[in-house]
Amino acid sequence: MTDLDHLLQKLTVEEKVSLLTGQDFWSLPAIPRIGLRSLVMSDGPVGVRGTGYTPEDPSVALPSPTALAATWDTALAERAGRLLGQESRRKGVHLLLGPTVNLHRTPLGGRHFECYSEDPLLTGEIAAGFVTGVQAHGVGTTVKHLVGNDFETERMTVDVQIPERALREVYLAPFERVVAAGGWGVMSAYNGVNGETMSANGRLQDEILKREWGFDGIVVSDWRAARDTVAAAVGGLDIAMPAMDNPWGPKLVEAVRSGAVAEELIDEKVRRVLRLAARVGILDGAEPTNTLNDEKGEDVAHEVAVRSFVLARNSVLPLDAGALTRVAVIGALATDARVLGGGSAQVTPQHVISPLDGIRHALLGVDVPYAVGADPRPFLPPAQGPDWAPFTFTLESHEFGVETGTVRWIGDLPGGLDVAHVTSLELHTELTPATGGDHVLAISGFGAFELTVGGEKLYQGSLHPPGTGRADLLLHPREQRFTVALPAGVPVPVVLRQTFDPGMAHSVSTTLGHRPPGPDEDGLIAEAVELAARSDVAVIVVGTTEQVESEGFDRSSLALPGRQDELVSRVAAANPRTIVVVNAGSPVLLPWAEEAAAVLLTWFPGQEAGRALADVLTGVAEPGGRLPTTWPRREEDCPVLDVHPSGGTLAYDEEIFIGYRGWLRSGASPLFAFGHGLGYTTFSYGELAVTPAEAVVTLTNTGERTGREVVQIYLSSTDPSPAERPSRWLAGFTTVTAAPGETVTVRIPLPERSFQVWHDGWQTVPGTYTVTAAHALDDPRLTTPLAFP
Ligand code: BGC
Repeated sequence: MTDLDHLLQKLTVEEKVSLLTGQDFWSLPAIPRIGLRSLVMSDGPVGVRGTGYTPEDPSVALPSPTALAATWDTALAERAGRLLGQESRRKGVHLLLGPTVNLHRTPLGGRHFECYSEDPLLTGEIAAGFVTGVQAHGVGTTVKHLVGNDFETERMTVDVQIPERALREVYLAPFERVVAAGGWGVMSAYNGVNGETMSANGRLQDEILKREWGFDGIVVSDWRAARDTVAAAVGGLDIAMPAMDNPWGPKLVEAVRSGAVAEELIDEKVRRVLRLAARVGILDGAEPTNTLNDEKGEDVAHEVAVRSFVLARNSVLPLDAGALTRVAVIGALATDARVLGGGSAQVTPQHVISPLDGIRHALLGVDVPYAVGADPRPFLPPAQGPDWAPFTFTLESHEFGVETGTVRWIGDLPGGLDVAHVTSLELHTELTPATGGDHVLAISGFGAFELTVGGEKLYQGSLHPPGTGRADLLLHPREQRFTVALPAGVPVPVVLRQTFDPGMAHSVSTTLGHRPPGPDEDGLIAEAVELAARSDVAVIVVGTTEQVESEGFDRSSLALPGRQDELVSRVAAANPRTIVVVNAGSPVLLPWAEEAAAVLLTWFPGQEAGRALADVLTGVAEPGGRLPTTWPRREEDCPVLDVHPSGGTLAYDEEIFIGYRGWLRSGASPLFAFGHGLGYTTFSYGELAVTPAEAVVTLTNTGERTGREVVQIYLSSTDPSPAERPSRWLAGFTTVTAAPGETVTVRIPLPERSFQVWHDGWQTVPGTYTVTAAHALDDPRLTTPLAFP
């Protein structure tokens, strides 16, 4: 009998079931009698939020997962994981809810930014590195969302129909890789797959994951995904989260008593929970093996950002800082960068370095004027800046000072207040306008509001119709705007009162927005164009907004919101040295790409955004990223756009042909191919030698500075196969650094899976393969034939 079985024997059925049922939003109960402490879980992929989501308890915010994958660097992914393992320890978290390895089936997927790639191999390798890093700290991971949560529309109920081959070769592959790498947890998805909701999907959770792959960790439900007591229990789920609307607890105890669920089944789940508890050091006698405190958040966030930026086009970078007089910085996102995507992947960063601040800091002595140009944000930015007195928020009887007119608290509230009992919020501040004229004020959030400016009541009412659901309150907030004429220099008190039902959205979320008097939209663009025309260089930051890329909904268009395209074209026409920085977590259309001197894709770059950007622009660092996903020229060219279930189902009829597999099949040419990305030096590929187990590539840095190359190995074969294969597929990759003139040799393992197809089981396809060593999918450098096996 194992040690865990000894503990198991001591537990009553109620206690066993309590270890499978969330006790609140984020944790399982302690059972001191057996030396077990409470297991705490937290999101997520870019930072560790902890059980609260408040400015008082900030988190390191790494770049988005798309950015991590764009580094193509498994060692760096492991380092990012180690940092989050360390952050988890700091915040008392034992199980991190990530990484997300759903695939970039279509760029319209709302959580695309939170997933790694359109390629299962790249996704699996980056995820395995990340998981290894987190778990080195004795912190568990949950690779998510098993499986088919590659879009958001109707995600709670949709049945995703995935042909078996696509399931095995594409969608399950990253999960399988993480299990092989020793991952301790899996989160099952909201959706169903092939007729059975995932949290009760015995075929996937039990047969394939646990029995076929030998997974010995826990399967936790996505939050409120478990709905049926017995079906979830027999379908392979181990932990149902959170406490709210949980179908287990007393109902599962009763199901055991009535014989509907065998007690052995419960024991098997509890054994898994206890094994996890031992692994994460919350069981007496099993302290965590490694609590190294070795990574600095700023350093890791900066390194990942720099190495993830994809230089897509270039005739001007790096800039020679000593030769610059004036650099125009343009765009709303240059001062308010989107550093992370929306939904459960959000954290409150320690700080955010904006592109403008980063550039100004790096270019001391250079004139760096700023113009908004075009503002894509549908809501006014929070009130902030020298015109505003400090913002004092009062929550019940507790007062909090914050720097801008916005708060967003989820989970534990500051001052130890219980979110379920808080019913009101008050904001007091004062506006002393530098400019007289029409000021626009805005409120957004949920509940009933009363806004008073200079003693005059501007608004009293509710922004949401009665009956708006919880998720909608958070994901689709509304805004109400008011224009007030104010003279310059005269202070006016501003008071915002908000009341809401207790626990209405398990959060507090309020923004007081402000726009001072200024030019209209045409005037703003004209101002930016004029500024660019009299500058040496123009740097424009364009991108998406919270209303475009988020959990909870899919995108309806790949176009940049607002008038940003027009802004870029007009600025590029005014200044031939225009550098466009794209701040989006997933592909957007860049109709002006050929007009810009440089296009730098920076994803959601995390808290060090501006510092990383300045380093790359000035050549202190080389942009190291390569595209983990294809960027289209036109939306209609994308191989998959369908995110709309019909009659409750959505069929993956394209089978394995997503991403570049689909692009290669249709023959359409994208704007930037999978694997594309330029550096500040050039490499010449000298030799390629292959065996069935590895490719050995020799290459030389032919440029003038030290640089990094991502060497990509693709396979192709026209020999007969039991199932149609893509015309090329990624089989391996590595990164390498070389000094000018240096020749380096890299060895890249070729997994046997790369030579297999799923056809009634895994089948190795013998024949002659063409092995290509490439800079990118569309930039092959060397090829050689390989007889396999
Ligand atoms: C998301 C998960 C997340 C969970 C807890 C869900 O809405 O789909 O990815 O881990 O919430 O926040």
